[in-house]
Amino acid sequence: MRAVDIIIKKRDHGELSREEIDFFVQGFTKGNIPDYQVSSWAMAVLLNGMTDQETTNLTLSMAHSGDILDLSSAVDLVVDKHSTGGVGDKTTLAVAPMVRACGLSVGKMSGRGLGFSGGTLDKMESIPGYRVDLSEDEFLKQLKELGLVLSGQSGDLAPADGKLYALRDVTGTVPSIPLIASSVMSKKIAAGAQAIVLDVKTGVGAFMRNLKDARYLAGLMVSIGELSGRKVIALISDMNQPLGFAVGNAVELREAIETLHGGGPADFREHCLVVSSHMLVLGKKAASMEEGRKMVEAAVAKGTAYEYFRKMVIAQGGDVTYVDQPEKLPTAKYIETVPAPRGGYLKGIHAQKIGNAAVELGAGRAKKGDPVDHAVGFEVIHKVGEKLAEGEPLFVVHANDPEKLAVAREQLLAAHTWSDEPCDPLPLFYDVIE
Ligand code: URA
Repeated sequence: MRAVDIIIKKRDHGELSREEIDFFVQGFTKGNIPDYQVSSWAMAVLLNGMTDQETTNLTLSMAHSGDILDLSSAVDLVVDKHSTGGVGDKTTLAVAPMVRACGLSVGKMSGRGLGFSGGTLDKMESIPGYRVDLSEDEFLKQLKELGLVLSGQSGDLAPADGKLYALRDVTGTVPSIPLIASSVMSKKIAAGAQAIVLDVKTGVGAFMRNLKDARYLAGLMVSIGELSGRKVIALISDMNQPLGFAVGNAVELREAIETLHGGGPADFREHCLVVSSHMLVLGKKAASMEEGRKMVEAAVAKGTAYEYFRKMVIAQGGDVTYVDQPEKLPTAKYIETVPAPRGGYLKGIHAQKIGNAAVELGAGRAKKGDPVDHAVGFEVIHKVGEKLAEGEPLFVVHANDPEKLAVAREQLLAAHTWSDEPCDPLPLFYDVIE
């Protein structure tokens, strides 16, 4: 078999066999198939799609490109969550310790920024020393001792996804249902959690632009998960405007910490409560969503959710003084509050434009392996439907370069659209697929 023939077959709308997919995945995992061929294949998949059978085979092949963790040796039941990616989506940072504080173990393997969407690992690395490269043994040990892990893909777990993810980020091959489904589910299967809550984002700031595609992706991932013996549900949530206020790395981490202390923006807090409650119900710690919500609210109020976050940071080598005093986290040189250029109702806050502006400011990557600037980003402090007076603070830019700040200011002003008539607020969730 030759990689080029597999690329050509996909280019010409063919259906790849299990053997061809295995050959390709093993080839690029071992480094026998170079990045340029993998990129070309990914573009062919993005343009021509895959059948559900191909996507399932791709997922299983990527999941088996490394080890499959058996978490039952560490704890009885582990829940995991995963978002398909959005702007300002720092949910994992708050939800993982919230759920752990309610008595359920959380072992999560997260990703870096992808295209315009931020990544949990980049956000957590705003904390000096925090390690996202735990080995399999370290992952299991921490899960057993603390019941909470937030790490990246080790070389041993779904390495095929690790490689493909980094390439997709910089080759315009992110928004593809088969590539997203296989990326998410291969990691989830390899990380071994028995129960998984998927947060499938839809809207202009998500890879799934419309509800129909989001539902399709959600259904596909739920059935792949079940084929692998996992309990999976998928929430479909809004990503037309950023989630919460902060967009960036350290700014998002600060907002997650505030939320763990019981503050934070109302939409983000509510989103975290709903996701956590689903995790508790799926993990059989709560009998209903209402009970789950009460447990999470109590864990935040008592400070146990925050305490678990601290313990996790310490366990993964991070300097916890940066968490206790978030003002120590990387801070940009220029912090500018931009006023509303007019009065009226906010009609739209285009999440993707804001995500792209954050990447240009340095919060994301232009090329594979680029470093990210942890300090830069935005606080987008209003929501669709709010009424503002001219001159009221509209958003805050955190930049390290005056020229980039000027560009970002214009990009964010253009991302806000206005109406003289009242506009409905956006919902947080659209559906749950079980
Ligand atoms: N999250 C992932 O892990 N992979 C994707 O492709 C998109 C979101």
